[in-house]
Amino acid sequence: MSDQPGIAPERVGLDVERAAGTLRAGGLVAFPTETVYGLGADAENVDAVERVFAVKGRPSTHPLIVHLSGARQLPDWVAEVPDAARRVADRFWPGPVTLVLRRGRRVPRAVTGGLETVALRVPDHPVARALLTAFGGGVAAPSANRFGSVSPTAAAHVGDGLGADVDYVLDGGPCAVGVESTIVDLTGAPAILRPGGVTREDLERALGCSVPVRARSAVRVPGQHPSHYAPRARVVLVEPGQVIGHAEYLAAQGRRVGVLLPPEFADGAGACAGQRVIAVPDSGAQYARRLFEFLRDFDRHECEVVVASVPTPDGLGLAIADRLRRAAGSRSQTAATPGCSAVAERGDEVFEVGGAGCFDQDEIVGTKDST
Ligand code: TXA
Ligand code: MG
Repeated sequence: MSDQPGIAPERVGLDVERAAGTLRAGGLVAFPTETVYGLGADAENVDAVERVFAVKGRPSTHPLIVHLSGARQLPDWVAEVPDAARRVADRFWPGPVTLVLRRGRRVPRAVTGGLETVALRVPDHPVARALLTAFGGGVAAPSANRFGSVSPTAAAHVGDGLGADVDYVLDGGPCAVGVESTIVDLTGAPAILRPGGVTREDLERALGCSVPVRARSAVRVPGQHPSHYAPRARVVLVEPGQVIGHAEYLAAQGRRVGVLLPPEFADGAGACAGQRVIAVPDSGAQYARRLFEFLRDFDRHECEVVVASVPTPDGLGLAIADRLRRAAGSRSQTAATPGCSAVAERGDEVFEVGGAGCFDQDEIVGTKDST
């Protein structure tokens, strides 16, 4: 792999034909979607797919999503299209939901990490759709970042993370949704494997049944690694009312602190002198759109630790909470939720934050009612 930091300017642009030609020739193209940028390869070219894994630094057993230009291509890639898949595709495609279905013979095992299922989605971005239409086939693409780090929501982030390892970057501007697609397993009773841009509530309305969020699926989902979507800074999660106090405590210890200030405490920003403070947008959609940009901002400002709280897990809050928990990951033991009793980390001490009304991990992830 190249260790060059950047990508040559002539390899960034809006030349869809060049991008499609690069895919046909077995090259790697980073492209915008409404969620995050993807690192694409011809899904039927095993060498190209293997290069995606190598560039990302991702274990070959972690499957990729195959991107299609339209729902009419779905039957070409799966063994069968269940009714539920038709319903979700009709309602949300093009859009930020990925369907896990039984793999069709066309899908190489290199794409699925050896699984008998395949993840498919039709992205809702004009540049992505132009690329997929010009290319004609399926494009296997993970998010265009190194394994475990923050997903790119702008073309410049792709260059920062992957540098010269990408053959061409289609620059379609900033991503509108900002968190990755919701992954829904439809091989049996519907279950969310990763919360994302389509809310659980909307999925349930479309399917007419409850759709649990599954904690530990039988499949390997990198987003389910304890530490993922992680900035360099350590992320510490506390209750909203403790964000400012905890940030002050860490700053007093000489740490360089980043603060994601919950909207209801925006007035308290003055207390965070010398810290990098970002006021969290009130709207879930705005917060989701900018979450990864915020995490990158803290790294750019060389924060050692970021203090944040998780939003309530409804609407896009579910996906935001999921990404923040994974950003906090195994590097801290924090799992604090509003009103939730959990162990949080303060410097080198471990203390209890807590109260009633906890949503526990198993409950939000729905293991009790999932199969
Ligand atoms: O929004 C998105 O989904 C973005 C854009 C580029 O489309 N893509 C993305 O890809 O987030 P990636 O590889 O970073 O995450 C895809 C997730 C992974 O966690 C992977 O394990 C899971 O999809 N996945 C892929 N195939 C699967 C399968 N057959 N069963 C279960 N999970 C699967
Ligand atoms: Mg990813």
